[in-house]
Amino acid sequence: MQDFIITGGNRLSGEITLQGSKNSTLPIMAGAFLVNGKCTLLNCPKLTDVYSASRILNCLGSICRLKNNCAEIDSTAVSDSVIPENLMREMRSSIMFMGAILGRMGECTVSIPGGCELGPRPIDMHLTALSKMGAEITDRHGKIFCKIPDGRARGARISLSFPSVGATENIILCAVLADGETVINNAAREPEICDLCGFLRSCGAKIKGDGESRIIIEGVRELHSCEYTVMPDRIAGATYLSMTAATGGEIILKNACIAETEPFISVLEQTGCRIYSADNRIYIRRIGRLKSVKDRIRTMPHPGFPTDAQAVLMAALVTADGTSVFEENIFDCRYRHTDALIKMGADIQVMGKAAVIRGVPRLHGAEIEATDLRGGAAMAVAALAAEGITKLSCISHIDRGYENFEKIISAVGGKIRRE
Ligand code: UD1
Repeated sequence: MQDFIITGGNRLSGEITLQGSKNSTLPIMAGAFLVNGKCTLLNCPKLTDVYSASRILNCLGSICRLKNNCAEIDSTAVSDSVIPENLMREMRSSIMFMGAILGRMGECTVSIPGGCELGPRPIDMHLTALSKMGAEITDRHGKIFCKIPDGRARGARISLSFPSVGATENIILCAVLADGETVINNAAREPEICDLCGFLRSCGAKIKGDGESRIIIEGVRELHSCEYTVMPDRIAGATYLSMTAATGGEIILKNACIAETEPFISVLEQTGCRIYSADNRIYIRRIGRLKSVKDRIRTMPHPGFPTDAQAVLMAALVTADGTSVFEENIFDCRYRHTDALIKMGADIQVMGKAAVIRGVPRLHGAEIEATDLRGGAAMAVAALAAEGITKLSCISHIDRGYENFEKIISAVGGKIRRE
């Protein structure tokens, strides 16, 4: 088990080149399983979740090789439709492979990913949709067996009760090789879904409407090889912007996706930071003490404020002048980072969905434990701004989503080392 030792109080300054998006790469890797040929993914982040996805592909008979920031995936000779339990446990997003395996093989066996650090994460919408597409699904002792009797999924009209990102992706992955047209109503509109669809279109899939709430997929017989560049990671971007807001200083984010980061930037601007963006770059400078955000910050499906950026922004706002209020509407259990922030001197009151943050002048270092990926990143944001030294443990959570975290922060003047 490794720790980060962080000495706070240093302003950040310089340039950060953003990694490729984790939440795009994982479903795109699942998408590569559908392709009768070799796919080359560029701008692929080096993350433990990506290594887990690579292990799943290899286990299913694809050949996945990761080198630097490139993934080469050859699924010409896929052979298996079962994801072993240990690989399912490594990463919740392994559920993403269900639609792809069913679409290609007509059957699949996975195990229930179980509750995770954000509370229970049911997959009822995934299962209902896939059964509408012809899958017969049985659940025995935590294992899910799916089989399409005639081997090929059929197009269906599916209306989601909530725009779930994962369910939308699973349906798309199953629908691209299905017989006929699939329509998803109330689909998630996250940019990573457009990235997945962009990749699948490069392989010959017929998809319209991604980025809107109605997506239409016309099934094709086969997908072909392609080379595709993964979009930048807007959540890693939000994390480094929050870090600069919390510590002071000025940063240029390179390889950023501006329009996709806008729902976050428009809130961060209310803290008084100067933010300019053009040509895939975002510039931020903090001027004076941060101001609190007056309007309630409500996490919502895209293009609302992203739930994945709630914790990192909160870590900056704990030292802002005044009171800010968050409302978490996507996950039931997404305030677990607040205990660590309180231990560092923050004044936070959680009441159900709401968290009230009364800004304090400063935080102090402490011994704390990362509770989940974004919560862990938020603790690093707070520690870089605090007085004194913080020992942050359980950092494997952070390694799931941030490439070269400590190297990037050190290069712009933050004091952080891995032990
Ligand atoms: C994805 C992202 C995650 C992000 C989340 C919301 C990836 C790998 N992960 O997660 O970083 O925080 O979107 O933007 O892309 N739900 C159900 N039943 C279902 C499916 C979902 O009740 O069948 C609920 C969930 O419990 C949650 C809400 O719907 O409360 C949203 O979940 P969803 O959009 O599916 O998130 P993920 O795809 O798991």
